Amino acid sequence: MAARRRPVRRIGILTGGGDAPGLNAVIRAVTRSAHRLGWEVIGIRNGFEGLITLRGINRLDANEVSGILHRGGTILGTSNRANPFEYKVTKGGKVDLCDKSREVVRNFRRLGLSALVVIGGDGSLRIAREFAHMGLPIVGVPKTIDNDVAGTDTTFGFDTAVGTATDALDRLHSTAESHERTMVVELMGRYAGWIALHAGIAGGADVILLPEIPFALDAVCRKVRERYRKKRNFCIVVAAEGAAPVGGSFVTHGPKEAGREVRLGGIAEWLAERIHAETGRETRSLVLGHLQRGGAPSSFDRLLGTRLGAAAIRAIQRGAFGRVVCLRHPEIVEVPISRAIAHPNRVPANCDAVRAARALGIGFGDERE
Ligand code: F6P
Repeated sequence: MAARRRPVRRIGILTGGGDAPGLNAVIRAVTRSAHRLGWEVIGIRNGFEGLITLRGINRLDANEVSGILHRGGTILGTSNRANPFEYKVTKGGKVDLCDKSREVVRNFRRLGLSALVVIGGDGSLRIAREFAHMGLPIVGVPKTIDNDVAGTDTTFGFDTAVGTATDALDRLHSTAESHERTMVVELMGRYAGWIALHAGIAGGADVILLPEIPFALDAVCRKVRERYRKKRNFCIVVAAEGAAPVGGSFVTHGPKEAGREVRLGGIAEWLAERIHAETGRETRSLVLGHLQRGGAPSSFDRLLGTRLGAAAIRAIQRGAFGRVVCLRHPEIVEVPISRAIAHPNRVPANCDAVRAARALGIGFGDERE
């Protein structure tokens, strides 16, 4: 006979990795749906860090999640340094990576939790999968502005980031035109070019450079020259932070820190110098950076976050653990964590959006003469 599950009384919730607009919508939806079932919700601060230190643990009541739907960031705080399996400890000036996973399991039990909702991108979901293997009842909610989690049609946060980047491109047009300049704009996305592709098309870029399509500087400069030859007299180049030249590598900020992802960035400046040197056109670079992660979530991200939060509670009710709730339009489905993060969701080089952009004459830096 199958063992009966103990009734759920109290669940935990944490947000891990870089923040993304829509996190608060998920926290609110999880909390409100749980309360309606008579469950308590325990907010864990700063991602897995809170489960290691037990600092900043508090019960989320109705007041705490009231008025947060439209707010960016996360009321729980987050961290992309707190991997319990490789936790950075500094002793006598020396940095060591320690395994704190057993402490997390112990603390989960100490808090009397029946389940844990982990809202995070591929990094946090990978950690969640390890804890699921260790027996913790976990439901994941995919989050990231990068849109690179394969299990879901799209992640919340992405739509808002694209909106912010498109708005920036609209603003750059007038100054680029006034000064007859070429503007090179660097957008986030890590190794996936979704933000650059979507914002580049929506914001009327002339060249879009993606990590998935290595570029040749010659081809980029040809496009810039063509713009001026056609008397358009300015040019907007969008470069994903992970874009790289053919045979080259992406640009990074200094050496990789222990236990952390390498930081991408610098491609816009690199390109602007070379475009200026090759074409003689006045060129400026801009890194939009964390502005893409800030601000109020779009209505799409509020709705998606709300649906995912409610779906996470349904999954817990049914004991569907070790799963991530994912959008498969028009439904929300539960996908095993391993499958949801098996490979990153990157832009297919010949996808419809790329083909549409090429049809309009937008360059991707891989065009032959
Ligand atoms: O994953 C989200 C993201 O914003 C990436 O697009 C970017 O490369 C990275 O996080 C930046 O991380 P940090 O906030 O640690 O600089």
